[in-house]
Amino acid sequence: MNKEKISPHTVVIFGATGDLAKKKLIPSLYRLYSQGVIDEFPIICVGRKRMSDEAYLKFLDIGKYDKDRKKLKKFVKHLRYIDVDLNKSMCFELAEIVQVFDKKCGCAGNKIFYLALPYFLFGKTIGLIKNCGLLNGRGSKKIAFEKPFGSDLKSAEILHKQIGRFFREEDIYRVDHYLGKELVENIVALRFANSLFEHLWNTDSIDNVQITLAEDIGIENRGGYYDKSGAIRDMVQNHILQLIALVGMEPPKSLNADDIRNEKVKVLKNLRSVRKKDLVIGQYVKDPDSIGYRNEKNVDKKSITESFVAFKTYINNSRWRGVPFYVRTGKRMNKKYSEINIVLKDVTCGIFQRERAKHANVISIRTNPKESVDFLFNAKIPFTRNELKEAVMEFCHKCEFGPNTPEAYETLFHQLLQGNQGLFTRWDEVKASWRFVDNMKRMIKNKRIKLLPYRANSEGPNESFSLLRRDGRNWKNIKRRFAL
Ligand code: BG6
Repeated sequence: MNKEKISPHTVVIFGATGDLAKKKLIPSLYRLYSQGVIDEFPIICVGRKRMSDEAYLKFLDIGKYDKDRKKLKKFVKHLRYIDVDLNKSMCFELAEIVQVFDKKCGCAGNKIFYLALPYFLFGKTIGLIKNCGLLNGRGSKKIAFEKPFGSDLKSAEILHKQIGRFFREEDIYRVDHYLGKELVENIVALRFANSLFEHLWNTDSIDNVQITLAEDIGIENRGGYYDKSGAIRDMVQNHILQLIALVGMEPPKSLNADDIRNEKVKVLKNLRSVRKKDLVIGQYVKDPDSIGYRNEKNVDKKSITESFVAFKTYINNSRWRGVPFYVRTGKRMNKKYSEINIVLKDVTCGIFQRERAKHANVISIRTNPKESVDFLFNAKIPFTRNELKEAVMEFCHKCEFGPNTPEAYETLFHQLLQGNQGLFTRWDEVKASWRFVDNMKRMIKNKRIKLLPYRANSEGPNESFSLLRRDGRNWKNIKRRFAL
């Protein structure tokens, strides 16, 4: 992988004792370091808990990053842990450490603040960054926010105003890690660099689009957050709407961040609000292997939070006239997989019309468990005249590009350090997404949409199947042979 070396920045991570920092952020920075993309990069890890640098490294389980002890030892020299109380308005120690490291690394004042914190701490943290003088002096000052950016449109607007007092939009990076996934980034290339696909990417050829982000895990230790959020805010407002935007957008003028985001936001603004009959929400109940949602830690025993949602929507424009987008996502489903299936219309030529085995053609983009782009088509069975069998042309990403597909956060950090906002969401996208989600949440409340129980480790409520069956369709289940 050829990645350009990047000029040094001081990276300050707030929320450094969280799961995200431990599992994704610091390991991604290590990978960039071990590939030589970043070099003299101080990483200042800020958390609430008091602990020494040694204890922090133990918490990170840094020994597991690499067998190359020498390299690890060198990397660790760039890491510092410091505890800061966000409730205090000053932080002399942090300011001093940042200053010392900045001089040492020749970072010329370039700083990145990464807020891996819940959104209600964003305002306080920015206040602290400002009061500590971390925004003073020369050099660029970029800030990244983990999702969710607010809990509804109103709270997002308040945040936007608070942040806007100190940062310009071009210095703000709102993270949606799905945008850092290689196969998601590849949607633009798949569509606009291939005449085969781009020619048929419209209502004339496409019957429907299906997006499934299924997870087999429950809510793990995140009950406090998840019970307030639910699947709609946790997955739809960001990942799913971004996927719809990428699949649905018109060709951007260029690959510049704003040209792509200009097109994505048009899709988000043109999404039809979900109707009552087109929405299914569910919550998992126990099965022999797993506890039910309401018995998870930090979840209300009478919780009505949805851990599953399925719905149908449309993009109101001429390219997508009449093409339904079916979506489903849920926790504690029978397996983890993420795919986008573009289901094509039937051919009009009638010679194979009566063959029962005939399948719709499907272009399938999969990010999990293995990255692939596959094409489902009909093949004639040898020694028959007209008997058909479904066949899959598989493009296994790792087989082509090698096993080291960058992790989403590695790609995102790389772009962030380079100052490229293309893989981060712009304010107007976030605003349009919250509007869509707020409408859905309002409808659930006002129309009293029933929360359906589904067995843990299942495919979700049966009603999600009826959503398509009613339209004479089914969720596609593509059996791959190679990229399993
Ligand atoms: C996060 C959600 O944004 O995405 C989690 O908060 C979810 O609840 C995760 O588990 C799924 O991401 P991925 O990359 O594992 O599909």
